[in-house]
Amino acid sequence: MWDEGGTIAVTDFEPTEARMAFPCFDEPLFKANFSIKIRRESRHIALSNMPKVKTIELEGGLLEDHFETTVKMSTYLVAYIVCDFKSVSGTSSSGVKVSIYASPDKWSQTHYALEASLKLLDFYENYFDINYPLPKLDLVAIPDFGSGAMENWGLITYRETSLLFDPKTSSASDKLWVTTVIAHELAHQWFGNLVTMEWWNDIWLNEGFANYMELISINATYPELQFDDYFMEVCFEVIKKDSLNSSRPISNQAKTPTQIQEMFDTISYNKGACTLNMLKDFLSEEKFQKGIIHYLKKFSYRNAKNDDLWNSLSNSCFEGDFTSGGFCYSDSKKISSALTFQGVNVEIKEMTATWTLQKGIPLVVVEQEGRLLRLRQERFLSGVFQEDPEWRALQERYLWHIPLTYSTSSSNVIHRHILKSKTDTLELPEKTSWVKFNVNSNGYYIVHYEGHGWDQLITQLNQNHTLLRPKDRIGLIHDAFQLVSAGRLTLDKALDLTRYLQHEKNIPALLKGLRHLELFYHMMNRRNISDVTENLKHYLLQYFKPVIDMQSWSDEGSFWDRLLRSALLKLACDLNHAPCIRKATELFSQWVESSGKLSIPTDVLKIVYTVGAQTTAGWNYLLEQYERSMSGAEKNKILYALSTSKHQEKLMKLIELAMEGKIIKTQNLAVLLQAIARNPKGQQLAWNFVRENWTQLLKKFDLGSFAIRYIISDTTSHFSSKDELQEVKLFFESLKAQGSHLDIFQIVLETISKNIKWLEKNLPTLRTWLLLRT
Ligand code: BES
Ligand code: ZN
Repeated sequence: MWDEGGTIAVTDFEPTEARMAFPCFDEPLFKANFSIKIRRESRHIALSNMPKVKTIELEGGLLEDHFETTVKMSTYLVAYIVCDFKSVSGTSSSGVKVSIYASPDKWSQTHYALEASLKLLDFYENYFDINYPLPKLDLVAIPDFGSGAMENWGLITYRETSLLFDPKTSSASDKLWVTTVIAHELAHQWFGNLVTMEWWNDIWLNEGFANYMELISINATYPELQFDDYFMEVCFEVIKKDSLNSSRPISNQAKTPTQIQEMFDTISYNKGACTLNMLKDFLSEEKFQKGIIHYLKKFSYRNAKNDDLWNSLSNSCFEGDFTSGGFCYSDSKKISSALTFQGVNVEIKEMTATWTLQKGIPLVVVEQEGRLLRLRQERFLSGVFQEDPEWRALQERYLWHIPLTYSTSSSNVIHRHILKSKTDTLELPEKTSWVKFNVNSNGYYIVHYEGHGWDQLITQLNQNHTLLRPKDRIGLIHDAFQLVSAGRLTLDKALDLTRYLQHEKNIPALLKGLRHLELFYHMMNRRNISDVTENLKHYLLQYFKPVIDMQSWSDEGSFWDRLLRSALLKLACDLNHAPCIRKATELFSQWVESSGKLSIPTDVLKIVYTVGAQTTAGWNYLLEQYERSMSGAEKNKILYALSTSKHQEKLMKLIELAMEGKIIKTQNLAVLLQAIARNPKGQQLAWNFVRENWTQLLKKFDLGSFAIRYIISDTTSHFSSKDELQEVKLFFESLKAQGSHLDIFQIVLETISKNIKWLEKNLPTLRTWLLLRT
């Protein structure tokens, strides 16, 4: 790889690339001890999984480094690097030497990563009750890196923006990202490296767990980030995919290298994590932790499958409470079906099988009749309505064991009940005006309240929303809009629900509501539905004016204050709100006058650049700065700004630069195309480019890679007309004819059909609702 500083060599093997570097039985089940020697020139250093034991000077001046033999591990975790990087180091409480490496000119951005990785390493060693088994851990920032990061044992590789933090240009959300990726890859040192899935069909045991452990570890080490509020988005993101018929079960057959790569998707990552979170909520945090410690200890240096995890989680009940005569559940008294040990074992396995071996997400329909609650479960499908002919067949044979939670208007006690059948009835101790299911949104299901259910909840939100927990309010907003997509709730009901937001002080809830409305704005704007676009714009600016006006152009406040600032000012400037544009323009001019030396608050930096990029002079200046900047965080912001230009020739120039891979590196091509496809003036350009340059793209990225899959879905899934659907279909057919097939094709086609249906059904409602409100 060529970088500013020179050439570096770096490996990246997961899932099936180790065989390209050395002959091996390249499957996760074949664990071995590796002894590695590397020859290099003296101006370089070499790194590998283990510490170096000695260096031998060879004839001709080359040096040969010998590394300690590794512990028993899978081939995909082997790694080595030859580079000229500089590092900072520290020692963990247990004596592990932790180092952060970056190219010499970026060394000053490594300090936050060192602090975070030391904290997180200490946390995991305590939480898992297992020490990190190697003497050292290196985290290396690679200047051009395909994925976000890779957990090679003892030598974790990162994209620069996933590891480096530059106080001058990295924003609050950049810090969150760096913390998240470090937490994720460190979790893999146990989940994945110490205990590995038997085969790639269960990659969720690696990725789902690592994603879930981000939540546990960041909550403990960086409570100020309030990561659980962010985690809700992790679940919402996958629900979009999992409510399509083209979804897949968490555990899924995978044979070819492409199929194996395709397993690395939101189902393995996000649904895996959300299922684990639901299970933790069901078992209690303590039981869950005990269970995974048991699992990690029992399978250390070995491989595991789904059932091994379920057995460990059940056994932890047995060894604890049951032998002393208690029950496994934390809230045993509240669970009507608390079972004896044997029952518990079966119970967990049966329950989890319905979440990991079956695709999709359940919808729980609740009907309240006095003190009676009638419950019904269905398979939730967005884009297929109950009255559609195919609906019934798509429901057949789907059944989940759903650990329900609910509270009512009369008390905030959390009630629990496992819904295992299609229908069920519950009796409340007293009559209440409303019931809210899925307390704190810990469950992976959507809830629909039939009859007056939604009206009662909306009334409560308007009267005193604080009687509902913040995460319950967020869950209600989410479910309401999902139900609109499924044709179960009218759009005006969901929009009415957001009216209470004028009193909302909880930032994640406010942002959730805002995002839905913003999404509609972008949808209308892309389709050029100008009357609704204009009215939405006025509505948004008018409705959120009080909070927008409160924002300062600074980096002050708590973490979520800062996220809110970025989101609101971005919205205001995107909508051409005059005071926003004025302030951003002023800051941009000052920045240009200072030759890029002026420090702009990091949370508004992207907004300032974006406004600046709208003139040709500003755009050109930003491109020059892009080349000059040493901060990946800043470069991302500039690239985004450049991609919002209304001039197609400028957008095309960016794509050309990214194809060339020098000024704009290959690693950024996918996000660049995504950004251009989001730009109404760029959407057609991005899509045409992908169709016309497919062969070129496949020369740069594997068919199953993150990059190719993102490029396909990001340039197509926003389409919402029949003509566009037809175009995309034809393109996918031509690819299939060339022998390229990906699961994402079907997901995209279904998503476009869903968009078409959404517009047909809801555009008139949206139009009328806005007319009454603006
Ligand atoms: N193990 C993966 C890297 C990977 C992804 C290897 C796909 C092979 C195929 C790594 O742990 C990972 O999940 N990286 C994420 C970032 C993470 C914070 C979610 C990535 O690269 O996006
Ligand atoms: Zn991972």
